[in-house]
Amino acid sequence: MIKTVKDIDIDNKKVIIRCDFNVPIKDGVIVDDNRIVASLETINYVLSKNAKVILLSHLGRIKEKEDLLKNNLEPVSKRLSELLNRNVVFVPYTRGEQVEEAVRRMKNGDVILLQNTRYEDLDDKKESSNDSELAKYWASLADVFINDAFGTIHRAHASNVGIASFLECGVGFLVEKEINALKILDNPERKYAVILGGAKVSDKIGVIDNLVTKADYILIGGAMAFTFLKAKGYNIGKSLLDEERINYCKEILEKYSDKIILPLDVITSKIPNDSTLAIEKRVEEIDDDDIGYDIGSSTVSLFKDILKTAKTVVWNGPLGLYEIPRYRQSTMDILSFLAISDSKTIIGGGDTAAAVSDNNELKKKIYHVSTGGGATLEYLEGKTLPGLRVLDK
Ligand code: 3PG
Repeated sequence: MIKTVKDIDIDNKKVIIRCDFNVPIKDGVIVDDNRIVASLETINYVLSKNAKVILLSHLGRIKEKEDLLKNNLEPVSKRLSELLNRNVVFVPYTRGEQVEEAVRRMKNGDVILLQNTRYEDLDDKKESSNDSELAKYWASLADVFINDAFGTIHRAHASNVGIASFLECGVGFLVEKEINALKILDNPERKYAVILGGAKVSDKIGVIDNLVTKADYILIGGAMAFTFLKAKGYNIGKSLLDEERINYCKEILEKYSDKIILPLDVITSKIPNDSTLAIEKRVEEIDDDDIGYDIGSSTVSLFKDILKTAKTVVWNGPLGLYEIPRYRQSTMDILSFLAISDSKTIIGGGDTAAAVSDNNELKKKIYHVSTGGGATLEYLEGKTLPGLRVLDK
C-alpha cells in the first residue's frame, strides 16, 4: 500500500518534498513554470499542517563542472516564492554545514529549497547511482519524505528512491493524481485509441508493443510515420527515417494492419526546416527531394473520424515538427477536436503537453495532461516505476 501525504502525521514535522522542478530556463528566466505550479497543492497542504518544508529537485543533467551554472536551481526558488506568496530560502548547497544550519534555523511554516540534487553527480554520480550514504544524509534532515516528482518517478536516484528507505514516506497530490489518471488505461472504456507522434520509431517501440494488443487503434503521425510508410513501400523522399526499425514496422503492420492507422497525406517541403514553400501531398506523390514535416488535412479528417468513436484516448508526441508553427497545425487541430469530444484524453508529456499547457481553455477540457515525459512513456510501456515501488510498503 502506498500512503499519500494525507495518511501521514506531518503536524509540526520536518517534511522533505521531492519535486520535479526540471523546468526550461533561458538566461536565468523560467520559460515554462507548469511543473512548479503543479507542485503547489502539496506544498501548501504540508504548510497548512504547520510543518517545515525542505524541497529537493534535480535540474538538467550534470556531467561536468560547466553544467553547474546553467543548472542552478535558484531561479526556481524565486518563482516559487511568488507563487506561494511567502519567502522560499534557497540554500546553494546539497549537503554540509550550510544545509544543516539552514534546517536548524527553520521555524514552522518555513520553506527551503536545496541546490540541484544532481550537483552530487560530479562526485561519482552519487545522486543518479542512488548512493546510499547520500540518501541517508538527506533523510537525516527530516522526519517524513513525500515524493511529488512524477516526472522523475521512472528514475532510481538517491533523492527519490534511496531516501525513501530511511523515512516514513508517501506520495504527494501530484503523483497521486497522475497515477489515478493513468490507471483508467488499465481498464479503458472503448473504443480506446492511442495517438503516437514524435521523431523516432525506436523511442516508441515499448509503447507500441505494450499497447497494440490493448488498444483498438494506434494512429501514427510525426516523423516516425515515415518509417512506417517506407515499410509499406512508399517513397518518403528525404523525410526522417529510422532505418533500423523498418523491419519492425513491417512486422507490426502485417500483424495489426487493422489497428495501425498511417497518414494518407503529408505536408512537405524541399528545404530543410523551412515552411515557406510547404505543400500538401498524398503519400503516393512524395518526390525524391521532399521532406515530410506534418500530416495532411485528409489524415486529420481520418484521425477525427476514428477519434469520434473513442471513449479513451492517450496521446504521446506531436504529429508534426512542433517547433515550426506551420507544422504545428495538425497537432493543434486534433487537440481542439479532443477538447470538445466526450472522450477521456490523456496527454503524456513533452511538446504535446506543452501545447495544451500553453492554452488554459484547452487544458481545462482535457481529462489529464501529464507533467511526465519519460515517466509517462515508461508507464505506457508497462514498466514498473522505481519511485513508486519503493513507497509500496
Ligand atoms: C524529465 O524532464 O523528463 C524529468 O525531469 C526527468 O529528467 P531526466 O530525463 O534528466 O532524468
